[in-house]
Amino acid sequence: MSSQTDGEFQKVVPSARRLSETLRDTGHDFNTAVADLIDNCISAGATEVKITARFNEGDPWIRIADNGGGMSPEVLNEALRFGSEVEHYASNDLGKFGIGLKTASHSQCRRLIVATRPRKNSPIHCRVHDLDHLGASNRWEIEVVPADAVPVRASEPLSRDRVGTVVLWENLDRLRNYAAPAGRHARDGFNRRLDELNEYLGMVFHRFLNGSVPKRPRLKISIENQAVRAWDPFCGDAPQTETWPEQLYEVHAGDLRGAALLTPYVLPTSHEFETSESHSAAGGRRGWNESQGFWIYRAHRLIQDGGWCNIRKRDEHIKLARAAIDFEPAMDAAFRIDLGKMRVTLPDELRNDLKAFVSQWVRHAEDRYRAGESDASKARRRSGKTGKRTGGRSGGASTQTGKAGRRTAARIAVALEEAANNTDTVEALESIKSEVRRIDDRSASDLGWR
Ligand SMILES: Nc1ncnc2c1ncn2[C@@H]1O[C@H](COP(=O)(O)OP(=O)(O)OP(=O)(O)O)[C@@H](O)[C@H]1O
Ligand SMILES: [Mg+2]
Repeated sequence: MSSQTDGEFQKVVPSARRLSETLRDTGHDFNTAVADLIDNCISAGATEVKITARFNEGDPWIRIADNGGGMSPEVLNEALRFGSEVEHYASNDLGKFGIGLKTASHSQCRRLIVATRPRKNSPIHCRVHDLDHLGASNRWEIEVVPADAVPVRASEPLSRDRVGTVVLWENLDRLRNYAAPAGRHARDGFNRRLDELNEYLGMVFHRFLNGSVPKRPRLKISIENQAVRAWDPFCGDAPQTETWPEQLYEVHAGDLRGAALLTPYVLPTSHEFETSESHSAAGGRRGWNESQGFWIYRAHRLIQDGGWCNIRKRDEHIKLARAAIDFEPAMDAAFRIDLGKMRVTLPDELRNDLKAFVSQWVRHAEDRYRAGESDASKARRRSGKTGKRTGGRSGGASTQTGKAGRRTAARIAVALEEAANNTDTVEALESIKSEVRRIDDRSASDLGWR
């Protein structure tokens, strides 16, 4: 029994055997676990992350190697402690809890090996954190591997004196749930996971991958030498995407005051995409309907991919509305981020502040959707077709004009709402809206007042 009396206090040391197993289930899945490790690579200043994943006849291993700053032996020991004491996190650091490396890794594997070289001419430092050892010894301890005994799998990315860190997962028991672990189904399942991982990382780190994070060089990620490509949920490259003006909201966490930045978009309708393939790609991993709503970023890393955070319900007709919400780690307490870094809860005050704007923006997205549907059905009638379009862009010049006009109208509508709020003339504006609806339905629709 690990206990000792100390004055009026009784020390109760956690059971390594039980707790290390329990902590495997803090909410990670395969994709989020790898993403959690990439957070660490980014925090360490890496510009390149190479993922190697081998099926290895049913005994798979996975390696995440970065070219970041590496770790001294002391920092490495601390890194492998549940609840690492980190001197201080930079204001844009992706780390928060001091457990990601261990919980993310052990959510997938039983044996975690970390090898690191902190500077040129330094030996490789290597440690093993093995759940079977913790279980057998019931002690929180890690194995120190001498520099000349580091397994090649772990040391290979650091060969030729390269600086960086390698995280190696072995004994991936959670991937071995097949009747025949070395069989075809298991191999196909493993490959499918890698494809899904590629898509997931392209989404979560899209700003890092396309080099749009301020003061950070572009990040490269590859899986088995295949580059992960950034996937932008807002179709920023499509000329028909409407970007609405950014809105800044004040947020409070205890005595702290910070901000959340909302950037709303209205995406093109299905018939404005070049091809049905590009339309379906823009739907993302979960499809158009699930992807509507808020995309929430913490220090530019995506945490939540869509959803309305209880501000309203999901609805096919408003699926063109997607918005980025950005917050900084200093505001974590207000956003209540979960351990798996997959979910946040919008602060109440922000949800209230957002409501008025959201209803107007969403109404506009709905109008755009309905106009797109009606244009498409007119085009189908003209061409005598009733089936679904398979390719080619409709719209052309008139779509372009419509887009610019809609954007201006939306901006004017926001300005009028704000002016009415500031001058206590909201009621007067409501009368104006209903009169505009009566005399000019089309303008009312463009302004989002219909
Ligand atoms: N790839 C890496 N390169 C350099 N240092 C690393 C790397 N991975 C982990 N570390 C060090 O190990 C520490 C612990 O990592 P861990 O992921 O467990 O916690 P964290 O990143 O501090 O917080 P969180 O639990 O939110 O991820 C980090 O703070 C960092 O000092
Ligand atoms: Mg971490």
